[in-house]
Amino acid sequence: MSDRALSPSDPQELLAAVLRANAGTGNPRLKEVMAAAVRHLHAFALEVDLAPQELQLGLDFLVAVGQATGPRKHEGILLADILGLATLVQLRSARDAVAAGGTEPALVGPFWRANQPLRESGSTISSGSTPGPRLLVTGRVTDLEGHAIAGARVETWQASPAGLYENQDPEQENMNLRGRFETDADGRFSFVSVRPAGYPVPTDGPCGELLAAQGRHTMRPAHLHFIVAADGFKALATQFFDAEDPHAFDDVVFGAVGSLLRKFEPDGEGGFRLHVDLRLERGPTVLPHCPLP
Ligand code: BEZ
Ligand code: FE
Repeated sequence: MSDRALSPSDPQELLAAVLRANAGTGNPRLKEVMAAAVRHLHAFALEVDLAPQELQLGLDFLVAVGQATGPRKHEGILLADILGLATLVQLRSARDAVAAGGTEPALVGPFWRANQPLRESGSTISSGSTPGPRLLVTGRVTDLEGHAIAGARVETWQASPAGLYENQDPEQENMNLRGRFETDADGRFSFVSVRPAGYPVPTDGPCGELLAAQGRHTMRPAHLHFIVAADGFKALATQFFDAEDPHAFDDVVFGAVGSLLRKFEPDGEGGFRLHVDLRLERGPTVLPHCPLP
């Protein structure tokens, strides 16, 4: 406790007092994170000369983000995504693995569902009524040296050729275009799907209002999501993007980094082929948080 009153006109003194109040935090990581958050928040408020009404507007925005979150959509994840924060954190946490030849990660996004169906390698993830060009996806999971990882668990999900995930679209069957696979002895898996289309991120909540106020477009380039987990390896969440999509270089959530762009190869029969290599770094397996039931 200080032995004199705060001088409200001195932001440095105020900041020092708030940091002192944080100093007794028992968890050292929480202490570090909160101290940095307070320093940056104070610096931000000073830089923009934040007015009280603007602070209230920002707090109301965060409340609206919570209220727009439910079993079908996680608006908080969407906020981190449109601010580039999810991509920053993902890429930074994987920087050593990527420097050593690991597959670049990409954000999980708000549409991964728990309990996606376990399917046989080579089977289809698209129900018969899903229109669109056939896409054969083959993949191989290896360590950073290129050695096969057998028995790796591969989760995949994608939007339809209409640009909608099944849980956004009453026309699609439950769990359509989603699946879980296990790699064979050579680290391989495959499945049949349809070529996905790009889509707009959900705009019916406060993030949509923010994008509109910023004059931004809302589109993601077409992609397939993957999460790969294997014992003794760090879990990898990534996406592979259609390099020919008009938004391949202009993803609203900044996830489409160059190493993840792929040309979907024509198979000569009106369909397409995509091969993905997933290279994992050794370490503890920690799966990302699954946002949807
Ligand atoms: C997705 O890829 O599923 C996604 C990511 C960010 C916002 C919306 C959707
Ligand atoms: Fe997606």
